[in-house]
Amino acid sequence: MDAFRIVGGHPLSGTVAASGAKNSALPIMAASILADGPVTLEGVPELIDVDMLSRVLYRLGVHVARGRDSRLRLETVDGRCTTAPHRWVRRMRASFCVLGPLLARRGLAVVSLPGGCRIGDRPIDLHLKGLRALGADLRIDRGYVIAKANRLRGSHVDMLGPSGSTVTGTANVLSAATLAEGRTTITGAALEPEIADLGRFLIAMGARISGLGTSTLEIEGVDRLQGVIHRIIPDRIEAATLLLATAIAGGKTTVTGVQPAHLSSVLEVLQRLGMDLWIGADYVTVERNRPLAPAQFIARPYPGIPTDVQAQMTAVLTLAHGESSVCDQVFPQRFEHLAELRRLGAAVQREGAAARVTGVMHLTGAEVTASDLRASAALVLAGLAARGETVVHRIEHLDRGYERLEQKLTQLGARIQRIREGRERTQPKLRLAASA
Ligand code: UD1
Repeated sequence: MDAFRIVGGHPLSGTVAASGAKNSALPIMAASILADGPVTLEGVPELIDVDMLSRVLYRLGVHVARGRDSRLRLETVDGRCTTAPHRWVRRMRASFCVLGPLLARRGLAVVSLPGGCRIGDRPIDLHLKGLRALGADLRIDRGYVIAKANRLRGSHVDMLGPSGSTVTGTANVLSAATLAEGRTTITGAALEPEIADLGRFLIAMGARISGLGTSTLEIEGVDRLQGVIHRIIPDRIEAATLLLATAIAGGKTTVTGVQPAHLSSVLEVLQRLGMDLWIGADYVTVERNRPLAPAQFIARPYPGIPTDVQAQMTAVLTLAHGESSVCDQVFPQRFEHLAELRRLGAAVQREGAAARVTGVMHLTGAEVTASDLRASAALVLAGLAARGETVVHRIEHLDRGYERLEQKLTQLGARIQRIREGRERTQPKLRLAASA
């Protein structure tokens, strides 16, 4: 297992490029099952999650090959396999996105239930409700969803749940509806840009979809979809994380290759924190010229502040001058990072569904352990600002969703190094008093 060793207190400067969006690449890779010919995706980040889904697809008869320049080529070579086993699905929730495409293209899907998650309860009832509405015969047996349909039938599907819409649920139903007989209307569809990207990919393959970017999608089913070349949109969560790194460490940096419109809620918070911003057609520059101001915010579905940057923003607020509060409406339990931030000297408390953050003068380096993908990023950000050395253990969570983050931060002048940990952890630098 790897860890990051960070020597904090160095302001960032320079330019770095955003990678392709993980949350776009994964459902699009899954939807390649629908195509009759080869699919080439450009801008696919090199991530553990991408490798993991590639393995699931390989088990489903899809040949996945990585080419140069972040290209991924996917081609179905054997359409007979219909089982996505527990061994792989349990490791990554997004592999559940194969359910809709498998069912629509092969008439049968046996997909392991994705299981629990560190960021809270993550049900799949809306995925199942949506596919049932399209006429799937669905049951759960020994931990697997078994879905059958000779041909799905167009219908009205509402994707709204108690916490709003579901992103991967919308992806599953949208993908499945492209090959259904007749017209499907999805209401309460997720507005996240990654769903619009999936829609554009499906349209390029020959699907008939209207309403992309809105909460109502109309899909006219077609008989077949063809292979296509598609470029994945930039990763707005990675870009936000890099911008927030400058907010906490100080300095002036530019993130290129982004779609600023996808970042508007994050940019608005950065402004409230007192950061100076320059926004171009495909880049954002941020500079910290004054102390960080406190902020109150609620993470909500798009176009709100993403739950996937809540932990990183909380890390930044630990150094703001005053009281801040943070709520997460999407995953109200997503506060595992608070305990680790406290190890670095942050004054953060859980109060019901919110976190109260009292800004401190400085953080101090310590050993911390990552619990999930975005919590790991929050700890790295805190480490960049902390005095002295911080070691973030269990960086494998971070490698699931950030492409070479330490290299990008090094490019910006951060002192961050990947270290390999054996069975024994790195020796903490403690000076023990001689025993009497
Ligand atoms: C996706 C993202 C993840 C992000 C999340 C919220 C991918 C691969 N992952 O996850 O990074 O944190 O969106 O933006 O794109 N819900 C139900 N019933 C369901 C499904 C979800 O009630 O059947 C609830 C969830 O508990 C949660 C909310 O809906 O409160 C949103 O979850 P959802 O959008 O489904 O998250 P994912 O698609 O799994």
